[in-house]
Amino acid sequence: MSQSSTDGSYGKAGFTRRRFIIGTVGVSAAAALGGTVVRAPRAVASGAPSGPPTTTLPLPTTTEPEQLLLTWGSDPAREVTVSWSAPGTVAQPAPTLAFSTRPITARNPGWLIKLPDPKPLDVTQRYDEAASVSFTDGLNGQTTFFYHVQLTNLEPGMRYYYQVSDGAATPSTAGASFETAPHGRAKFRFSSYGDLATPSWDLNTSGNIWHESCDNSWFAVTAIENPGDGQGAPLFHLLNGDLCYANLDVNNAPGVWRDFGNNVARSSAHRPWMPALGNHECEFGVDTMSGHPGGAAGGIGAQGAAGNYWNGPYGFGHYLSRFLLPDNGVTNWDGNRLRGNFYAFQVGTVKFISLDADDVIYQDGAANYVINTANATPETTTTGAEIPNGTTTYTRFYTGGLKPGATDDSLVPDYASGRPNLQTIWLDKTLAQARRDPSVDMIVVFMHQCAMSTSVPGNGSDLGIRQAWLPLFDKYEVDLVLSGHEHDYERTYPVRGYAAGELGTVVAPNPGQVKGAAVDTRRPAVVTTEPYELNGTPAWNTREGTVYLVLGGGGTNGPTNTYGTDTADDKPQAKVITTRNAVVGTEATGFAKNGADSVEDAPWSAAINPTDAYGYSIFDVDPGQRPGETTITFQYFAIPAVTNEAGSAHDGATTLPTQPTEKFVFGRRVGRP
Ligand SMILES: [Fe+2]
Ligand SMILES: [Fe+2]
Repeated sequence: MSQSSTDGSYGKAGFTRRRFIIGTVGVSAAAALGGTVVRAPRAVASGAPSGPPTTTLPLPTTTEPEQLLLTWGSDPAREVTVSWSAPGTVAQPAPTLAFSTRPITARNPGWLIKLPDPKPLDVTQRYDEAASVSFTDGLNGQTTFFYHVQLTNLEPGMRYYYQVSDGAATPSTAGASFETAPHGRAKFRFSSYGDLATPSWDLNTSGNIWHESCDNSWFAVTAIENPGDGQGAPLFHLLNGDLCYANLDVNNAPGVWRDFGNNVARSSAHRPWMPALGNHECEFGVDTMSGHPGGAAGGIGAQGAAGNYWNGPYGFGHYLSRFLLPDNGVTNWDGNRLRGNFYAFQVGTVKFISLDADDVIYQDGAANYVINTANATPETTTTGAEIPNGTTTYTRFYTGGLKPGATDDSLVPDYASGRPNLQTIWLDKTLAQARRDPSVDMIVVFMHQCAMSTSVPGNGSDLGIRQAWLPLFDKYEVDLVLSGHEHDYERTYPVRGYAAGELGTVVAPNPGQVKGAAVDTRRPAVVTTEPYELNGTPAWNTREGTVYLVLGGGGTNGPTNTYGTDTADDKPQAKVITTRNAVVGTEATGFAKNGADSVEDAPWSAAINPTDAYGYSIFDVDPGQRPGETTITFQYFAIPAVTNEAGSAHDGATTLPTQPTEKFVFGRRVGRP
């Protein structure tokens, strides 16, 4: 963008936070703009269930392939992983994958890859190029099956056709085609949101309503296949955590995952979907935290006391079985390989980094059974596993510890402990390499939880991310940080460094805190509120500061797009989590969990959307010429909440917008090659 063009009209008139109240793109307004009213197909199920099932429901015993899922390998120009599942609890007899640069037909059978017999998830082992993985849910005992083929040595920018088969006597097949990433400095499009959940009963394969089911989840996938600007589907999608909320349906987590897999397959069969771990990927089970079978399963107290309440490694067993992601090469202190927990890949001139913020956040919000009922019945499941009231799966520092930095309010890997935080070490190394690499112009980080959010009903801003990772994002000039977690939209001004001092106030003290006391929230410092302009579009130079986007409007049934204001001065205000949320109570009285402990004025908040919680983002990367400007043009398309979603009634219509609710350019100058 032009450094000299600081046309103030954009900054002053159009994009101050308070003026950016989106009130014009409701259903009728969008329809007037030519929005497409998409009606969902009618249900196969004959009637709506009254709510989430409370008992374990059976899964199919058929084997036809479904839930097709593509992900990038480490080099998206040459490596794509094809994954799929069997519908239920029976393994496919002899699964195969065929692929070719021409459609698979009887005359063109393609290259055929046979998969081995399934083995239970074991993250201490390396995967073969073709792998079949089973996972047994700790709470309901159902075993489900996942198939992965890591295709390598593909041609860049090439379309490949594939077909998978269950290998039954009368085989069932499914297939699609995909395009590999372009080589070198090329334009491309990607998309993003988090917090997708599952559609409601009539659009779920199972016909069930789950805890977070909402038909917006269905339309969110529809939108990725046909973005509102008519310029075509993205090359790939970033899914910023809280994929399907299976950890809320403790008797049916595999069934929830299946409905998620079939919903996203409408897109993920055609283009890679790259996830980040969120709090709702952490599930209760009967394993140790490292994922080994617990010795004290069953019986209230014993299982909890032994800490045997994790569903696979760190509770992520379903996620790690389902996604085979680029390998970070990091082995955790407990011997588990951390492949898939966090990873990086490069498309064109952009380095993408997926992080698991569960590792550094203060907030306690993963799997938790905390209810304010005296002598509450433990969360008892089909297998006899019992999760007592007051149990939470807190995974902070699961890849090692952090300690206060020497010179500022940061947290840095704690080498003296002998177990420094491996994810943060990997992040530092990965960012340093990316910024040294002349083929990388911009760096996009995506994770689930937020460093900055002013949502009131949401979780708030987490000091842990600010302390552990913002110093690295600053040092290596990360351009964009995408998150979810809050079920809404928010954009920050570019920020760099932080405002020193105790700028926060404790409002809901955790142990050790005093209400009303000042607290250092390490508040990010705004670089500027005035955008530049590029060809009529407001633009930030992200070399000057990192922009944070909260994109959590995938589709859950719990919108949080109400935003905080300091009543004293009418300026934006944010909740900040600066210590672990206290869980207080006893079996006899019931338990409660504290919310965010503090608040701060939030001058970093640039744009919010109180009108629509849902939406998707489209990013168009243009590397330009060197020397020159490399840009990512960002469009946010808000999607109105579907009508008549509540309860068992069904309508399931919304208006997918054809105009973005905002458009922004993020870019930087790049030098000579
Ligand atoms: Fe969420
Ligand atoms: Fe979340």
